[in-house]
Order: sequence, then structure tokens, then C-alpha cells
Amino acid sequence: MNYSVFKRLLFILLLFARFTAQADEGMWLPILLKQLNESDMQSKGLKLSAEDIYSVNKTSLKDAVVLFGGGCTGEIISDKGLLLTNHHCGYSSIQSHSSVKNNYLKNGYWATKSEEELAPPGLTATFIVRMEDVTSKVLEVLSDSMNERTRAIKLQAISKKIEMEAVAGTHYEAFVKPFYNGNEFYLFVTEVFKDVRLVGTPPESIGKFGGETDNWIWPRHNADFCLFRIYADKDNKPAAFAASNVPYKPKHHIPISLKGVEENDFTMVYGFPGRTNEYLTSFAVDMIVNEADPEKIKLREKRLDILKTEMRKSDTLRLRYAAKFATISNGYKKMIGEVNGLKKYDAINKKKVFEQQFMASLNQKAEIKSRYQYLLADIEAAYKKFRPLNKARDYFTEGIMSVDLLAHLFEYYKVMNLAQSQNRNEAEYKKAIEDLKMASANFIKSYNSIADKKVFIEMLSAYHNDMDKESQADIFIEIDKKYKGDISLYADRIFLKTLVLNTSKTEKLFLNFNKNKAKLEKDEGYQLIKSLYENYSKKVKEQVAKADIEIAALNKTYMKALREVMLDKKFFPDANSTLRVAYGMVSSYYPKDGTQYNYFTTLKGVMEKEIKGDEEFTVPERLKELYIKRDFGRYADKDGEVHVAFIATNHTTGGNSGSPVFNGKGELIGTNFDRNWEGTMSDIMYDPSQVRNITLDIRYTLFIIDKFAGAKRLIDEMTIVE
Ligand code: ARG
Ligand code: GLU
Repeated sequence: MNYSVFKRLLFILLLFARFTAQADEGMWLPILLKQLNESDMQSKGLKLSAEDIYSVNKTSLKDAVVLFGGGCTGEIISDKGLLLTNHHCGYSSIQSHSSVKNNYLKNGYWATKSEEELAPPGLTATFIVRMEDVTSKVLEVLSDSMNERTRAIKLQAISKKIEMEAVAGTHYEAFVKPFYNGNEFYLFVTEVFKDVRLVGTPPESIGKFGGETDNWIWPRHNADFCLFRIYADKDNKPAAFAASNVPYKPKHHIPISLKGVEENDFTMVYGFPGRTNEYLTSFAVDMIVNEADPEKIKLREKRLDILKTEMRKSDTLRLRYAAKFATISNGYKKMIGEVNGLKKYDAINKKKVFEQQFMASLNQKAEIKSRYQYLLADIEAAYKKFRPLNKARDYFTEGIMSVDLLAHLFEYYKVMNLAQSQNRNEAEYKKAIEDLKMASANFIKSYNSIADKKVFIEMLSAYHNDMDKESQADIFIEIDKKYKGDISLYADRIFLKTLVLNTSKTEKLFLNFNKNKAKLEKDEGYQLIKSLYENYSKKVKEQVAKADIEIAALNKTYMKALREVMLDKKFFPDANSTLRVAYGMVSSYYPKDGTQYNYFTTLKGVMEKEIKGDEEFTVPERLKELYIKRDFGRYADKDGEVHVAFIATNHTTGGNSGSPVFNGKGELIGTNFDRNWEGTMSDIMYDPSQVRNITLDIRYTLFIIDKFAGAKRLIDEMTIVE
């Protein structure tokens, strides 16, 4: 090889290294796209301008993207307010309309006309009207010399003021949120629709095919979608549920492309990612990998085992615990994947190397050196203090409070506290008693003591065995004495004796709560929660709150320092449930030596995965029929198969579920619903070779709606580009 060829090769190699290091990481703010990302996006295949994606002056893609409920994303796909999101995002709404006899989770549901669309209580869809950088307005009233408490109070006051001014005279709502760990602030003005109805959902055997086994895993074969509709009043404004409401007329609805994707195609995800922690230090990552995640995994595993066993025994229980089980399991599995990934990727050492680079660069900047010289050492010291506190908090919130009975007893404890407070507000107290009375009736009605008692025993035992003795509640001294530390004996006693599980006793209590409350005070269940909570409150809660404030302040400074010191790096703010754009390319990957994962899956794979008698892998007969007849309509790919899902390098996280996935022209090609196992660590560290978001191919969605469910009326509403 001659020298000039060598030099050119080296140049290309270097270019590539630079490219892969920066590739596709980031969740960007829509209003900053023009400045930060537009040209990069266009060079990768975007045909739109930043203004087409987000604008306040004209209709843009943002007008068809909503925050669905509190924690998912949805998109508008017809001029009659039809909303597409994930099956797992609609899961609890579907569950709330189901009974063992009319089980829509199991059988699916398709409204054949508007009157059959079902309104789940409390469901909302939130549009972003506009956003604005209000950093300078906020920082005007804050100063570096303020202590964190004063700062928090001032911040709250100025935020309130900005929010009120922003919505004066409108029906909009507003909030100000911190970005870059509290170094910048943005205002969001929103329009919140409160009448959102379930239109259609496939059965679980399609929407959740593969169940918990396949969750967080690629290759994937479920149609994780369902459909809702936003209703508005006659002026197209948000209104509480009313029979007279009409389908909402959106400013924009997303056209759907039937063309599918190929490797390296541009894709863009527009949605509401919930939370990431990309700028943690090695000390924090160490705590997560070696302590916090493993502890929580252990606690959750115990609960899941118990719930699984009990759910198998009864259809009623299976339905009642469906959403709860899925949520616990989802977080559990995510943490396992995250720990694996961070270890395999050597994340702690990578962070350490990065911190050394930071210090080296800092040392060259005489003007700011003194400001940040001891920052990392301070963070290290803070985490050292924080670790045992964090563990104690997790054992309380993930352990103790995960016992239904104890969480319920805690509601009693709160009302008792009110009862005993010197200057209680009578109206508030009366209302609290009324609420508790209702909560009690509901609780007893749906309570399953068999499962919960097992959870009680496991969680109390874990708390007693794993936490250092000094931080435990006093009641354990008594338990050790009276029951020789046998928690199951103790559980027998509590479950037998506590009055809160007994209808006639609670009814008597609520006849005159204020007078009868002495009975509650003597209740052994009540005494247990009182001891547990007061111990937690005294030894853990306040200290954790203080440590949280201290660490947040240090992280804020660290973020500021990073941006001042590492000038050649482009920083995006951590996810915080606000609207973001991620973009990347359709891409296969190598999860391990000798293995490559293709970028798409097909209906054939669904058939291959079938396991007779296994509820997670049952394929409905109707789907098999369509497959055997190859009755795919216009929804097959040009290779003749129905494509189910595909993967790309978009940087996404929890909350991005249900997000529209666009092609370069702003047409809908799918719905984001998961991440791959190897990539679950991307909330903390993004590895471009391993992180993939998983998208449900829109053609599989349409195939299920049209061919499987025969819901032509819905297809007819949509704008489909062939
Ligand atoms: N892992 C996906 C997300 O984080 C889907 C979760 C729902 N599915 C389930 N099998 N639990 O939310
Ligand atoms: N399933 C996740 C959600 O509910 C999205 C997957 C992820 O965390 O990336 O938002």
C-alpha cells in the first residue's frame, strides 16, 4: 500500500469513528432542531424542514402528537380524532372495561359505531400548543449565592407567574420545566382533552403475543397497538365526558405510508420520553449497577413469583392483577437488561475515563478551573453518604409499600395523623374520612389476601434480614421476641386481627370515625405501619430528601461544567416527559459474536413462535387462516410477506411508547413500542452498535384492523399513501 492510499484510508477510518461515536444519540427539543439538527437530519434522509416538524405559525407534525394519559405517546391518524398508541399503553383502560365474562384483554374489542366507543375514566390526551425558552426570565430571580431551599421557593413562584401569564384568557394549561439538570427552563403551553374513548384493540394473543418472555427482546412479533378517539365539545374544545361531545377535528392528522422500510432508511421518533440519566458520574453508575438495581430486582422477583402462581389459579385474579403484574415485570426486566448492558459495556470505567478527560480539559482552562476543581470529589463524597440511605428508601418503597395491606394501612395512618394534628382543617378532615371510607370498601371488595400475605411475608423478611439493624423499625424487636423472628407466624396474627380487612368492623369504625379511632390505634396492623413509617420518616426520609437536594445541586453544577469545558461535544437535555425528536437509521445489529439480528420480522415468525398450550405464545385461529390463505391485501411487503416490526437506531426511552415513527417525508411508518435487550442501558449510556428502538410496522397494524378485525370503517377514515 502506498503512503497516500494509506493516508486516505486512515482519514476515512477516522471520519467513521467520529461518526459512530456521535451517531443517533440524543432526544432533541423540537424548537432547537433548526439550530442543532436540521442539516444533520437532512443529510441522513429527512425531506422536511425543522419548521414542518415544529412550528407555532403553521400546522406542523407536532399538532398530531399527544401525551397519552400520563406516560405514553399517541398520534392522530384521521380527521375525526382517531388516536393510535400501544396496546400496553391502553392496557389498564382496556382492563377497566373488562370482566371475566366480557374480557376485552383476552378477546379484543372493536367498536362498530361511535356509540360503542368506550370512555375509560380519567384518560387524557395532551397537545403541545407551544414551547418557549424562559431560562433568562427564571434565572433573573435566582442567584448562585442562594441556598437550595430558597432557590426552590423562588423557582416555584416565578414558574407559577410565567405559567399564569401564558394561559391568561385561554382554556390552555401550562408548566415550566427544568432542563440540563436545572440550568435551563422551558415553558410548555398545552391543550388537554379529557374525553378519550377506546375504539379498538386486538386480543392479547396478538397485542401482547410473546408476553413477558418477549418483552424488551428483539426479534419481536406482537402487534402492540390499540386505537382511541378524542372527543371535544361542539366548538372543538376540550370537555369532560358527555354524550353530546363529538369527534375532535385535529389541525393535522398523519398520512400513512404502505411502502415499508429498508436497511439504512431515515426514521424519526416524535414523542414524550420520560426519564434518562445520561450525565451521571461513575459514582452514580456504580451505585446503580452494583447495588440499587440488584436490590430492586431481588425484591421484584419475589413479588412476581408469588403473583404469577396466584394468577394461574384464578381468572378473576388474572384479570385483576394483569396491569399491575405487567408494570412490575416491565421495570424488573428492564433493570436486569440495564445492569447486564452496563457491565458488558464497561460503563463505570468508560465514565471514569470520561471524567479524567474532563479534568484534563478543565486543568487547561485557567479562568474556570477553580470553580470546578473539587466537583467530582464532592460528588463522590455525596454518593458515599447517599448509598445506604438509597437502599433504605428502596426497601421501604419497593418492599414495604408494595404490600397491598400495608399501603392500605398507610392511608389510615395519614388520616389518623390529620385527626391528631393540632390545627387541622375540619372540612379537610371530614373529606379525608369520607375518602378513606370509600377506599376501604373498594379495597376489601377486590382484595386477595392469599397472594398479599405471601408478599407480606417475603417483603418483611427481606427488610428484616437485609437491612442493617440500626436502621430497622422498633417493631422488629417485638417480632423477634414474641414470634422468635418468624415472620409468617406474625403475618398469621396480623391478617387475623387487623380490623381493616373486615367489612363489619370497618363499617362500625366509619359510623363515627372520630369517636371510634381509639380502636384503630390499638389495631396491630395499624401499629405495624405506624412503626415502619415513623422509623422510615425519622431515619431515612428526611435524610434522603436532603441528599437528593445536595446531589441535584452537584449534578446541576456538573452539567454546567461539562458544557463549559467539553466544547466540542453536542449535549442534549435528559428526557423529562417533554416533547422530543429522536432520529436514526433502520439498522440490523450484532448482539454477540457470530450472531446478527435482521432489521425486520414477519408474520411467518409469529407462526414459528407458536407454542400450543402456552398462553404467551398462542396464535389465534383467524390469524393462522389469513396466513395460510396469504390473504394479506395491500399490506404485504414487496417481498410478499407481512412485516411485523423493525428496528432502528433512534434514542428512545419509557414514555416513547406509542410514538409515531416517521419516514423522511413525515409519513407514518410505524409505532414505537420497545427497545432491544442489549440496548436497555441507553437511559444511562448509549452504545450505537447495540441500541435499537423497536417499531411496530404500520402495515401489520392495518392488516390486523382490516383483515383480522374487519374494521373497515376505521381504515376508511385514514389517509393512506400507497
Ligand atoms: N417494554 C415495553 C415498555 O417499556 C413494553 C411493556 C409492556 N409489555 C409487557 N409485556 N409488560 O414499556
Ligand atoms: N415500552 C416503553 C414505553 O412504555 C418504550 C420502550 C423504551 O423504554 O424504550 O414507553
